[in-house]
Amino acid sequence: MNLKTPEYVPGHGLITGKSVLVTAAAGAGIGFSAATRAAEEGARAIVLSDIHEGRLAAAVEKLKTESGLAEIYGRVGNVAVEDDVRGLIDFAEESLGGVDILVNNAGLGTSKLLIEMEDEEWHRVIDVTLNGTMRMTRYMMRVMKARGRGGVIVNNASVLGWRAQKEQAHYAAAKAGVMALTRCAALEAAEFDVRINAVAPSIVLHPMLRKSASEELLAELESKEAYGRAAEAWEVANVMMFLASDYSSYMTGEVVSVSSQRS
Ligand SMILES: NC(=O)c1ccc[n+]([C@@H]2O[C@H](COP(=O)([O-])OP(=O)(O)OC[C@H]3O[C@@H](n4cnc5c(N)ncnc54)[C@H](O)[C@@H]3O)[C@@H](O)[C@H]2O)c1
Repeated sequence: MNLKTPEYVPGHGLITGKSVLVTAAAGAGIGFSAATRAAEEGARAIVLSDIHEGRLAAAVEKLKTESGLAEIYGRVGNVAVEDDVRGLIDFAEESLGGVDILVNNAGLGTSKLLIEMEDEEWHRVIDVTLNGTMRMTRYMMRVMKARGRGGVIVNNASVLGWRAQKEQAHYAAAKAGVMALTRCAALEAAEFDVRINAVAPSIVLHPMLRKSASEELLAELESKEAYGRAAEAWEVANVMMFLASDYSSYMTGEVVSVSSQRS
């Protein structure tokens, strides 16, 4: 079975007037889709960030052209580096007049059997995926608390935080960590009116991912989905926008699966 991809859902103004910061927003996947969706849902200003300078400049231009929104800024940064994280959030605070919504999208994966994995590969994946999300969340919480007008953080986890897959021990451990971080940080942040939730996507087959994994593995992953297909990046971005919006005002510390997997 391979159910056809649904029609693109138009925006509904879910985050009208809000300012948004998205990390890892210059790729072909969920990050850029989240920034695009934010513009379509009424955001007044957006900062896109990414580690890749060239692609980031192109992404900013593309979003400006496609959305017609004037206030779109780019800032290069590596979420695994504390100075970059502080520089990025300080920049976004200043350019946006305060960040209302942070989308922590950055995450890094590789494929390796655990018995063959060296410490360096384990640490690299954990450092971007878990520690990077922690650094962004921690500093954003500090800034939002000091500013005193609340805010929302949406983290990007993965169903692998719940499920097993060969060659993914490091990535799955990191994403399980992102889920736990989301729950605990949300409990603390509720005291100053900041909500923190996460999405857990199963699979989004954008061109960059297609290049990095074998056809057989991707076909196997798609076949596990009840829909027989991978999600479109915008289908994940839609759920992020729901979590970023006041429609989810009674949700914090939650991890929402964006998946059609049967097990
Ligand atoms: N694609 C999937 O099937 C899938 C499934 C579940 C979860 N996720 C998660 O979704 C998120 C987005 O993944 P995606 O595959 O949609 O790609 P994406 O296009 O959203 O992100 C890729 C971008 O991340 C940037 N990046 C990499 N390391 C970075 C770092 N240290 N700091 C800042 N930017 C960095 C890259 O330059 C690239 O532009 C990740 O956290 C990933 O783990 C993806």
